[in-house]
Amino acid sequence: MTRVAVVTGGASGIGRAISTRLADEGYAVAVLDVNGEGAELVAKELSAAGGKAVGYQVDVSDRAQVDHAIEKARGELGPIGVLVSSAAVAVQEPFAEITPESWNRVLAINLTGTFNCVQSVIHDMVDAQWGRIVLISSVSAQTGAPSLAAYSASKGGVIALTRTLALEYASSGLTVNSIAPSAIDTPALRKKQEAGILPPSDVLGKGLPVGRIGTGEDIAASCAFLCSDQASFITGQIMGVNGGTFTG
Ligand SMILES: NC(=O)c1ccc[n+]([C@@H]2O[C@H](COP(=O)([O-])OP(=O)(O)OC[C@H]3O[C@@H](n4cnc5c(N)ncnc54)[C@H](O)[C@@H]3O)[C@@H](O)[C@H]2O)c1
Repeated sequence: MTRVAVVTGGASGIGRAISTRLADEGYAVAVLDVNGEGAELVAKELSAAGGKAVGYQVDVSDRAQVDHAIEKARGELGPIGVLVSSAAVAVQEPFAEITPESWNRVLAINLTGTFNCVQSVIHDMVDAQWGRIVLISSVSAQTGAPSLAAYSASKGGVIALTRTLALEYASSGLTVNSIAPSAIDTPALRKKQEAGILPPSDVLGKGLPVGRIGTGEDIAASCAFLCSDQASFITGQIMGVNGGTFTG
């Protein structure tokens, strides 16, 4: 039976690489993104390559939009077996300059958005007594990151949510894990490099023990493993796909 995967933030970067990898492995994939055109484009590419995919516009911070998109995906592809939550925003601001509005927006997308998506799909997994949830967090939640207080706090919340959901659903056949990437070559990272907020990739790479920054495919490979049947004994874990960054 074809397993159905929902990937949020699937129009770009890590989410796109994960959507592609899961489609290549035979999952039917629902690509969700606030960038609806981008989500549809990725779904079209996956379908053209022989996969089964749909793409929907959804702001993960809006619960009604999430429920509507999940309902459509369920109707089109079947009950959801896998959720990968990659949608997020990272707003670079010195702590003293963060407005309550900016703080609330980052938390609403990165943390509440994750909650919305998990809650919207989890009953399918419980009904099937099988499910895989992979929540993308960040090394910044483990090490701290200057001028990224809201972002790193939201990702710390994602890590805590991962551990709690893993315990709550362990006896229902679900695994819940998080991948905590360090610097990964994505449109989001490149935008920061172009704005001079981050150094070029070769400089960033030299700061990592393995000597290079990561790729979307590095994350997708780990994610595909966590989604597989082989990973059934792994839950509640924070997998650092981070080029050897020491996280304590
Ligand atoms: N790239 C890195 O170096 C890096 C490092 C650590 C963690 N991460 C995490 O990896 C994930 C993916 O990051 P990326 O670098 O691929 O970023 P990206 O910006 O390339 O992709 C993120 C996607 O999320 C979508 N998105 C943003 N807000 C949304 C919303 N409200 N609803 C639905 N979709 C929304 C965007 O449209 C975009 O397509 C994020 O969770 C990010 O925090 C990235």
